[in-house]
Amino acid sequence: MKESFLFLYNFIRYPFATGAVLPSSRRLAARMVDDSGIDAAKTVVELGPGTGVFTRAISERIGSETVYLGIELREKFAALVSEKFPGLCIVNDSAENIVENLAKLDRTEADTIISGLPWAAFDTDLQKRIMTSVTEALPPGGKFATFTYLHAVRLPAARRFRALLDENFSEVRESKTVWRNMPPAFVYHCTK
Ligand SMILES: C[S@@+](CC[C@H](N)C(=O)[O-])C[C@H]1O[C@@H](n2cnc3c(N)ncnc32)[C@H](O)[C@@H]1O
Repeated sequence: MKESFLFLYNFIRYPFATGAVLPSSRRLAARMVDDSGIDAAKTVVELGPGTGVFTRAISERIGSETVYLGIELREKFAALVSEKFPGLCIVNDSAENIVENLAKLDRTEADTIISGLPWAAFDTDLQKRIMTSVTEALPPGGKFATFTYLHAVRLPAARRFRALLDENFSEVRESKTVWRNMPPAFVYHCTK
């Protein structure tokens, strides 16, 4: 409950960066990590962990040798997730800086990137800067998973984001809708 209040507070204070009133559901988290190549990944990056719903699903699936890097813009969320998952590396930075943060962990690329970012709330320039950061960090064949809310899919920013996915990935697949999420959402599973 405390985490839901923190999330709501952040939505009121930073509506565009937070992009949602409530954290995602465990069902959506499970759908995000399915088919993301996470079981075999040596390096996994999570963008915008928030209160850590996807982080938990990721931590339950990765191997003990896998390097995890979480990048969260809001200091309070980054501190909360670091406290909840002391074995994982979470930095308080922007998703625009994936490669720079991987270098600090002696990695040049990530096999899988899981994004909790509210892409449809970003302007064109920020969408492009973060997408460049994602594609620079992924090798050919690397996996990228991100979600979108069903009700928002026809909004111009969401359509622009979908076009950006098609431009940057050789395969983009849509999951079934996860109805047990507030609001209902689906996942884009992408391969570079
Ligand atoms: C819709 S919330 C999702 C949080 C969590 N993954 C979930 O699904 O419940 C978006 C998250 O992305 C973070 N965020 C927004 N812009 C960001 C950026 N440029 N870099 C890193 N994190 C960002 C927000 O602070 C927030 O935690």
